[in-house]
Amino acid sequence: MDPFSFQWHLSDRCNLRCRHCYQEDHSAARERDASFWIELLEHIRLGLAKGEGLSINLTGGEPLLLEGLPLLLEALDHCPDVQELQIITNGTLIEGPVFESLGRCRKLTAVKISVEAGQAELNDAVRGAGMFRRVEENLEHFRKLKRPLVAMVTLGAHNLHGLDSCWPWVCEQGLDGLLLERFVPLGAGRHLAPGPIDEAAWQSALRRLAQSAGLDLDPRELEWVRAVWIKRAADGGIEFCAAACELGGGSMALMPDGSVYACRRLPRVLGRMPETSFVGIRKGLMSFSPIKGGCRALDEAIRR
Ligand SMILES: C[S@@+](CC[C@H](N)C(=O)[O-])C[C@H]1O[C@@H](n2cnc3c(N)ncnc32)[C@H](O)[C@@H]1O
Ligand code: SF4
Repeated sequence: MDPFSFQWHLSDRCNLRCRHCYQEDHSAARERDASFWIELLEHIRLGLAKGEGLSINLTGGEPLLLEGLPLLLEALDHCPDVQELQIITNGTLIEGPVFESLGRCRKLTAVKISVEAGQAELNDAVRGAGMFRRVEENLEHFRKLKRPLVAMVTLGAHNLHGLDSCWPWVCEQGLDGLLLERFVPLGAGRHLAPGPIDEAAWQSALRRLAQSAGLDLDPRELEWVRAVWIKRAADGGIEFCAAACELGGGSMALMPDGSVYACRRLPRVLGRMPETSFVGIRKGLMSFSPIKGGCRALDEAIRR
């Protein structure tokens, strides 16, 4: 049985103010402590089917700012239902006990580090001056964690022309892969010109990226693809892992105050845990279905 997967937005708090960010608020207003996170974990476990596990992406805001993260990682490490654990970070914070706790977490299978291109100018236009260099410098510390490191790129019209720089940078830095997702104009990102890319540009970007990694894919194979993760194996082999839209019940975005969206980019609250049962939340998740060859969140964001 596939594990139930979710993105856990532990806090809105962040040390950066990226221009594309789907958050408007980067404060600690909704932040709760580790005891609340552990209560939510137990609450979710109660609603799992027999034999069903969990696959969790920890994110935020910036998760490496959170003093309580070591406690949560320890709880997740010891939780028998947690099968897979990954973290998404801006890669700017590498000092202190929070960063060190990543190295102790046995279940952590990937560290995803966000950049907007494989070149400073385009990245820093979104993430702030000097951030690309800082991430490059910090990679030395991330490598010491001895976990797969993956660059995470969010593609919009603002960085489309930087796409070709991404894969060469991943290889040059010796990273283990590249994840490509699509920009949806929400929160601070609503003001970012020139906006999102359309479906045709997305499809052509997927093909271009595959080609730059040495893969020749039939365009028909990509029509349903909403995100892609290109993995580099130690022997130089390349694996192209495509993901479909996650709407339909197998996934959710859990927000800092316990409220749940079907997708982080589709900000409609389906309930709030622990007041709403996880079983009730799952019924709500099942009422969302993906649209064919498009992105429902992007469509709604553009119409808003
Ligand atoms: C919100 S961040 C949180 C984790 C961390 N602060 C970081 O930047 O990686 C998670 C991912 O969402 C992406 N993201 C931010 N705003 C977005 C938007 N408007 N549309 C799509 N993805 C977005 C970020 O680039 C990042 O890769
Ligand atoms: S994208 Fe990540 S690093 Fe940038 S402002 Fe949003 S939460 Fe912070």
